[in-house]
Amino acid sequence: MKALLLTEAMNVEVTDVSKPTPTSGEILIKVAASALNHRELWIQKGLYPGITVPCILGADGAGTVVEIGHNVDQSWNNKEVIIYPGYYWGTNEDAPTRQFRVLGMPDPGTMAEYISVPVNNLVEKPNYLSWAEAAALPVASLTAWRGLKRHGRIQKDDKVLITGIGGGVAQAGLSLALALGAKVYVTSSSSDKIAFAQSIGAIDGVNYKNKDWHNQLKEVSGGIDIVLDSSPSPDLDNYFQFMNYGGRIVTYGSTGSPKTTINISKFFLRHLQFIGTAMGSPSEFKALLIFMKEHAIKPIVHSEYTLDEGRKAFNSLRSGNQIGKIVINHIK
Ligand SMILES: NC(=O)c1ccc[n+]([C@@H]2O[C@H](COP(=O)([O-])OP(=O)(O)OC[C@H]3O[C@@H](n4cnc5c(N)ncnc54)[C@H](OP(=O)(O)O)[C@@H]3O)[C@@H](O)[C@H]2O)c1
Repeated sequence: MKALLLTEAMNVEVTDVSKPTPTSGEILIKVAASALNHRELWIQKGLYPGITVPCILGADGAGTVVEIGHNVDQSWNNKEVIIYPGYYWGTNEDAPTRQFRVLGMPDPGTMAEYISVPVNNLVEKPNYLSWAEAAALPVASLTAWRGLKRHGRIQKDDKVLITGIGGGVAQAGLSLALALGAKVYVTSSSSDKIAFAQSIGAIDGVNYKNKDWHNQLKEVSGGIDIVLDSSPSPDLDNYFQFMNYGGRIVTYGSTGSPKTTINISKFFLRHLQFIGTAMGSPSEFKALLIFMKEHAIKPIVHSEYTLDEGRKAFNSLRSGNQIGKIVINHIK
């Protein structure tokens, strides 16, 4: 079968590899669409822990069940499914086990014609989502959902800041926070992206390239309760300018800066919380899908490529010009 492989030279190439056979408890899926995440760029740069090559990339995917391994209910046959993009979360909803892994390195990922995964990783695809939308959903929407719900403890009318609104997780966070009744503000490097966020329902936004963006945000928002953050400032003290007392800064990435500093006195005197998060549990994934269906939320798909155009798709993600998810359409 055809797959997008990360080679030993850390290149991404479309290559012929063996089609997997489902083992006991597994199901073989003919992938209809997969989606790109920033994670695959970190992997290609060698900046991800435990890199194992060669490996089929891709954490996000959706497709049709075509073969069933032993000890799996036959009723799964022909079902259209979305794949929960992780292994070994465990039973603790507060945090995964140390063995937790995201799909697609070291385990074979979704950017292939077929993937075999444990049946417990599958959720039926809701009909209102296209293949591209279904594939665009898992990592980004689940990360945003857990960040806002579990860690942010978001409530109606909370003021929420979502940083770097061009990002996949940020876009998902915007749709979810709005559906949860929050008042949403954004940051971006692009006024077009801020305008796009406002057209969906964000109240206002500021450009994080402007050194004074923290004060500007305070002015337009009056104060923020929750930050869903992919890139904390190198100096987190700046956030004290706009954080309301008792606020939560929920961080899921380090795109802007891998390190930050913090004035501890201001931090504890304001009763702030700085919380790390990564993806979410299988039960959160199921709850997310129910919520998205109830509110008819669709992930925003920026563009679609074929499997053969995989390298082009990654170049597009690298450019950072996208608003929403870049998808690989496996059916074209
Ligand atoms: N913890 C997890 O489970 C998890 C899950 C998914 C992603 N992540 C991480 O989260 C980050 C974003 O991932 P993604 O897939 O959503 O990325 P993405 O789609 O590639 O988007 C990255 C966005 O980050 C924004 N950005 C870049 N530099 C910034 C800065 N200095 N300050 C604020 N925003 C900045 C840009 O927004 P504008 O274009 O609006 O300027 C850009 O569009 C990555 O580091 C990724 O590894 C973590």
